[in-house]
Amino acid sequence: MSETPQPADLIVFGGTGDLSMRKLLPALYHADRDGRLAPETRVIAMSRGGLDDADFRGKVDAEVRGSVPVDDLDTWQRFLGRLHHVTVDIAGQDPTGWARLAGMLGGYEHRDRVFYLASPPMTFGPFCREAHRAGLVTPASRVVLEKPLGRDLSSALRINDEVGAIFEERQIYRIDHYLGKETVQNLLVLRFANAFLEPIWNSLWIDHVQITVAETVGTPGRRGYYDHAGALRDMVQNHLLQLLCLVAMEPPSRNDRESIRDEKVKVLQSLRAVTGGEVDRFTVRGQYTAGESGGVRVPGYLDEPDNTAPTENSRRVETFAAIRAEVKNWRWAGVPFYLRTGKRMPNRCSEIVVQFKDVPHSIFPGSTPNRLVLRLQPSEGIQLNIMAKEPGAGEVALKPVPLSLSFAETFTGRVPEAYERLLLDVLTGNPTLFMRRDEVEAAWRWIDPILDEWDSQGTPPEPYPAGTAGPAAAHELVGRSGRVWHEEGHA
Ligand code: BG6
Repeated sequence: MSETPQPADLIVFGGTGDLSMRKLLPALYHADRDGRLAPETRVIAMSRGGLDDADFRGKVDAEVRGSVPVDDLDTWQRFLGRLHHVTVDIAGQDPTGWARLAGMLGGYEHRDRVFYLASPPMTFGPFCREAHRAGLVTPASRVVLEKPLGRDLSSALRINDEVGAIFEERQIYRIDHYLGKETVQNLLVLRFANAFLEPIWNSLWIDHVQITVAETVGTPGRRGYYDHAGALRDMVQNHLLQLLCLVAMEPPSRNDRESIRDEKVKVLQSLRAVTGGEVDRFTVRGQYTAGESGGVRVPGYLDEPDNTAPTENSRRVETFAAIRAEVKNWRWAGVPFYLRTGKRMPNRCSEIVVQFKDVPHSIFPGSTPNRLVLRLQPSEGIQLNIMAKEPGAGEVALKPVPLSLSFAETFTGRVPEAYERLLLDVLTGNPTLFMRRDEVEAAWRWIDPILDEWDSQGTPPEPYPAGTAGPAAAHELVGRSGRVWHEEGHA
């Protein structure tokens, strides 16, 4: 965990929105409760909401208190006391908000100042310009950009240029909250603090890799965002590709801010492009229809409750995506990386499955290849399936048995939420777990041709009933080479 931060001002643009109320404020409260925020640290929410400090504190008291452990009212009150609200219109028509913010920040230029942009990507450039115009960007300032950074390569380049015109790259923190998850960091430790895996971590020993992020939730109330995003932009371009990078990267020479990111970007640049006619062969997109999820009847994507009606975009947007990717380098040539993510899947499950090759020559019938499963969600753990003999006389009968590490059973302390870890990293100025400009752009460079092809086809995604594991084509994607998705095989 990071060292205790110095006094800081954290300014959250979009500070009354969903992300702020569900993730950022609970994470900050936990950090405060653990004594990880300096006493003078302030959290200043910016929104168009017209709230004063007392209104905002009341809103947080009503909406956040129930979701965090408040065992001591003084600590909760101390946390509320850090909160402020400034009403600002990003279009700049009303300069009073910026002036008020400047008044609050005046005299504290020596403090770490963090602008957290929990807002749509098209606001990033305008926000930075306005903050600069108001004289708020100090050398000790940092800016955090929420994903998705743009909606394709050209918009990402534009946003990076706009933000880069005000902030230096060292001040820009592009967040991907998956990098703050414990198991994701553990993947680096597993790979680079243990010697036994490295000799077999390559195409000689590994048959293929599966990366799945399956969610049971749908998208009620998110049409405005989701219709223009879809699973490829919302999950694959960032979370799944970051996981792929951590599995595939070369060992970095140091655990510092640039070495890990240098190795990750090389993986993204080595991805084999999927273009034109290959898109149909190597990708699958689906959209959920009505079905049953967790024993409850749920509507299809187009009928999700929302305050806007479905449009043509709604009909074409994918809530499920699967891709067969390949990393073209010496270590991985020929090893498929299957990526898959979807809403309204049967179970919430995020995992990385490394499937090893079978023994070169089997003297026992019924042996199956070893498999390493890194579970991110719901219960974090690592499992290695090995073959063992079933006890008994007579014929040797084999059975795959798991060597398991459950984090909850092995480590009893509280596991911090991804946002907590990452917020503390921003406050202490550690960008290692944030995406660098070249990483984001390399990811879009690979995603863009797939998006273009899907767009040009103009056909709707394949339907799949809510509560099922995606469209049939997803099974064919792996099945063509005689493989199966993890949950369809055995444990
Ligand atoms: C977000 C996506 O980045 O990640 C959401 O925008 C998704 O659509 C969420 O539900 C999943 O995060 P987690 O941590 O719950 O797996």
